[in-house]
Amino acid sequence: MDASDILALCKRRGFIWPAFEIYGGVAGMYDYGPLGIAMKNNIIDIWRKAYTLGEGFIEIDGPTIGPEIVFKASGHVDAFSDSIVSCTKCKESFRADHLAKGLHSNPDSLSNEELSKLLRENGVRCPECGGDLTDVEDFNLMFKTTIGPGAGRVGYLRPETAQGIFVDYLHLYRFVREKLPFGVIQIGRGYRNEISPRQGIIRLREFNMMEAELFVDPENKSWPRFDKIKNEKMKLVPNNGDEIEITVGEAVERRMIGNATLAYFMYFTQEFLKTVGIDPNRLRFRQHLQTEMAHYASDCWDAEVLLSYGWTEVVGIADRGCWDLSRHIEYSNADLTAFKKYEEPVEIEREVIKPKYELLGPKFKGKSAKIGKALEEIDPSKIKNGNITIDVDGEKITVGSEFFEIVRIKEKVTGRKIVPHVIEPSHGLDRIFYACLEHAYTQKSDGYVVLRLKPAVAPIKVGVFPLMVKDGLDVRAAEIDERIRMSGIASYYDDSGSIGRRYARMDEIGTPWCITVDYETLKDGTVTIRDRDTTRQVRIHQERIIPTINSLLCGTPFSALEQ
Ligand code: ATP
Ligand code: GLY
Repeated sequence: MDASDILALCKRRGFIWPAFEIYGGVAGMYDYGPLGIAMKNNIIDIWRKAYTLGEGFIEIDGPTIGPEIVFKASGHVDAFSDSIVSCTKCKESFRADHLAKGLHSNPDSLSNEELSKLLRENGVRCPECGGDLTDVEDFNLMFKTTIGPGAGRVGYLRPETAQGIFVDYLHLYRFVREKLPFGVIQIGRGYRNEISPRQGIIRLREFNMMEAELFVDPENKSWPRFDKIKNEKMKLVPNNGDEIEITVGEAVERRMIGNATLAYFMYFTQEFLKTVGIDPNRLRFRQHLQTEMAHYASDCWDAEVLLSYGWTEVVGIADRGCWDLSRHIEYSNADLTAFKKYEEPVEIEREVIKPKYELLGPKFKGKSAKIGKALEEIDPSKIKNGNITIDVDGEKITVGSEFFEIVRIKEKVTGRKIVPHVIEPSHGLDRIFYACLEHAYTQKSDGYVVLRLKPAVAPIKVGVFPLMVKDGLDVRAAEIDERIRMSGIASYYDDSGSIGRRYARMDEIGTPWCITVDYETLKDGTVTIRDRDTTRQVRIHQERIIPTINSLLCGTPFSALEQ
């Protein structure tokens, strides 16, 4: 089996297909079809519930286009790029680190100069036409656009959902009643103008992300439930050593993973991936080298899954430190801090601005009270050239140093402002979706395909068939199908072709159970229920179908029905 088998099945059966196909398609753009949407939504549902119901995260949904300043502040406009080389003959472009695969243990960690040298020394030529390659350069992945008519305002399509959460920090911190730690999720599209997307839905130019941003106290990066999972194991590939299976607790104690929250959410990611059907034997966490990390990260681990494409990142779990909030504070002047209370109030001495109201009055007349108040709120360390420019009712007023003095005061304070740090598990939904398909795909020697999807992820849970399309069997089966659907379980009625063909069609799309209405149903009301993975069948009464399916969906083994 390779990716082409999966992609062919996906297209034929309506999971995914290349977008705009009648016009030749666009690399890196795919559509989700009816089965794909159902399966994607199931994965989202599991993920959302794990974070919101399981860990108490809150959720937002913001615009996918943002003004330039947001992405200037985040660093993406200046630093979000991949290394590109082009062919001097056919003009095709390639990611330089991808062409260097196999020539270096981690080409992503090399500078453009190092990559150029590596490609040159190894005689790498254009994979399409054999032509000479250019030197390696940076290529910014941001999609630029204009917001509004005419010259409008420069905007960008978001490359990650995360920034939408950071710019909402004030609302969110207030919503959680001003306590750390807290977590926020956002699910939605991300856009990256990838250089040469060629791997199905692994590398898209418009893709689906599920991101969680956890705001933590930088001096106490712990997570309340860490102790519950500290004896669980994970497979780690640290950036300074070989793969090791180790408990979460030990990985933190040995400082392999920087802090308990990062470790907790790596484990949490592992469990989520297992729940949706990733084979734990084909899952590991690889730590980034310092030179490989995104501009915002201080520690980063990728959840990698072994696919026919090789080890592939599906989730990036990063410690973003105070990068994002600090940058947005700098660019917006908003107070994106948290208040950290001391155990006991403490007395401190600090410098403050004391306005000279007796001079402000004659000079600024009716505005002097507002000017005085604004002066009192300014941090003396921010004064430049002795003068202060303040904003009073939209008017910029410069106040000379003769109108105030700087004095030292003593005061009792109950705490101080801190800029929270952010830990981020960032999930690529399309890659997880694809990995679920690949890990579920089985093919017998005669070519018979069974997609062993986890029932919770399978787009259709139950196939419902009449043995024959006559004698009222079809009418009864259609009624059963409708009852199942009306109870909220996705079922599919099929009466065409032999029963064997119908089972095969359901097996190929991963439907875990099939129900057949036969002549015994008309006599005693029982139907057969068949299990996809064992092909075993048992008879149950038709009134028991919905509770039985619900119980199987909750994890009851099929064998329990046979007792
Ligand atoms: P890569 O190194 O493969 O380009 P990345 O390190 O840039 O990925 P992140 O920036 O960490 O990826 O993005 C978070 C997640 O989003 C990734 O783990 C991945 O699953 C997904 N992702 C990133 N880029 C794409 C893309 N072009 N198409 C589909 N999914 C993507
Ligand atoms: N939000 C993580 C990333 O896009 O890299």
